[in-house]
Order: sequence, then structure tokens, then C-alpha cells
Amino acid sequence: MNFDYKNNFHISELPLPELKIFTYPAPVLKKVAEPINEFNQELKDLGEQMIQTMYKSYGIGLAAPQIGKSIRLFVSDIDFDLDKEEDDLITNANPKVYINPKIIEHSGKIIYEEGCLSFPGIYEKVNRHEKITLEYQDISGETHTVKATGIESVCLQHELDHLDGIVFIEKLSPLKQSYLKKKFLKSKKK
Ligand code: CO
Repeated sequence: MNFDYKNNFHISELPLPELKIFTYPAPVLKKVAEPINEFNQELKDLGEQMIQTMYKSYGIGLAAPQIGKSIRLFVSDIDFDLDKEEDDLITNANPKVYINPKIIEHSGKIIYEEGCLSFPGIYEKVNRHEKITLEYQDISGETHTVKATGIESVCLQHELDHLDGIVFIEKLSPLKQSYLKKKFLKSKKK
């Protein structure tokens, strides 16, 4: 990565332009995304721009369909601290890029209140696996496995769902879904 995320930084210092985030009901959010086979410079640049867009949006995860690209890539950072009183100072940043991710093991259940950059203003409790083992490729194409629990597990499952065309409110009952979709569309019009 070009920018050094290990040193503390202000969000305004991030050099890359912010990508446009697509919100519900953009059709790209409903598509099953395509696997990635080419690990080239273009992909590295996209990953980095998505990381910077995630911080600029105060998010902990961002999936490629959310920026209009139907490919199996997401970025996340569940470790960073944000100080809004210090002019959006970020400390402890630990951004990661996940490509072609797959859950190979899961156990337990966890209920956690989730939000989504594609549904600004909507927060709901969602049921997920408590623990997962995720297999993925990094930005160079190397394969890794990671065991995740708690908020990391929730975040990885939420982002992986985006690659399968699933938004978090679709994990809720049909009644709740239609209520939230209507509520969101109304709030968008204002
Ligand atoms: Co989301």
C-alpha cells in the first residue's frame, strides 16, 4: 500500500478521491459478484482507494458492489480508533483487503446491531455465526485463512454477503424488511 496507515493520520490527509457509494435499491447491490483472477496494479489501486473511502465514510467495512463494481473483493478495519474531536484523527489503523473470500467453517450464534454504508441511518440487530474460519486471497493473490469471532466475525459475514447480492436487512423477517426498505426510501427522498 502506498499510504502508511501505521502512523496516526487525519482522514483529510488521505490522498485518494472518495469513491461514490451506491445505496439501496441500486441494482449492483443485488448481483452475485464475479471472482477475481488477475492480481494486477489496477486491483491494488482499487483496494487502496476503497480503504480510504471506507475511512472517509466512517465505516469498518466496504464491499466492491457498494462502489459499483461487481467483483469479489471487500476491505475492512475493525481495529482503528477515530477521534472526531481531534479533527478526525485515526489511530491503530489496520486495514485489510479480502479477495474471493469463503467461509470454510462456522459455529455458534451471535446477535449484533449492524449498519451499512448502503443504508445510512438504518441500524438493526442481525443473527450471524459467532465464529467463522474464512479463506481468502490477499491483494497479491496469496491464500490465507483467518479465524474470527465477535465483531470481526460479524463484519466479515456482512461484507461477504454483499458479494452474494445480500444486504443486511435481508437477514430479518419479511415484514421487518419491507418496513425498513420503505422507511429508508422515504428518508432518501427528504
Ligand atoms: Co454493508
